[in-house]
Amino acid sequence: MSISIGVLASGRGSNLEAILKNIATNRVSKADVKIIISNRAGARALKIAQEHHVTTEVVEVTSDVKESRWEYDQRLLKVLEENGVESGKGLVLLAGFDRILSPEFCEEYKGRIMNIHPALLPSFKGLEGQKQALEYGVKVSGATVHFVDSGLDSGPIILQETVPVLDNDTVESLSARILEKEHAIYSEAIKLFSEGKLELEGRRVRILN
Ligand code: GRF
Repeated sequence: MSISIGVLASGRGSNLEAILKNIATNRVSKADVKIIISNRAGARALKIAQEHHVTTEVVEVTSDVKESRWEYDQRLLKVLEENGVESGKGLVLLAGFDRILSPEFCEEYKGRIMNIHPALLPSFKGLEGQKQALEYGVKVSGATVHFVDSGLDSGPIILQETVPVLDNDTVESLSARILEKEHAIYSEAIKLFSEGKLELEGRRVRILN
């Protein structure tokens, strides 16, 4: 049995691309991406989805209707459920999704939403984690896959991978090195989840053999 996955993405879509490739080549074998949703019609992520023949949907923020965060998320939820990514069963992946999810949505898919962050959480939460790390002067940074709760980048950590910060690094060079790790650990986390190997106890995520 494969786990049904919905991906929320707003931009470049390189993590999405890596995930779809790993599923296509069976490195992640028990996962099935059913739908890619973007809040931005021009997102490259949508093109990548189409190249891989995955259904896409644009759920735009409507400027003419005043809508709460939860009302918007209910539209996401509807699209996810219509495409077989049901709460309590499916898995939602944030892959460069530039909106914060409502507490209600997080509760609906509790323990079933993952995000990838370009720093070693809990350091450098929020936007531009790579730039924050460089400016702070840390010698090691990296990537984190975590479950999503209603806080900012605050959910239980699933996997982390480190990269050294070099003296001659720029935001671009550090970001590129971190991105390679992102691509590897996001698929690894999905594989573990889809094989039922992640056990959550409080904040701790244990990886079962
Ligand atoms: C990645 O750096 C990810 O860590 C962050 O947003 C970026 C998305 O990149 N959350 P992409 O769209 O997957 O290429």
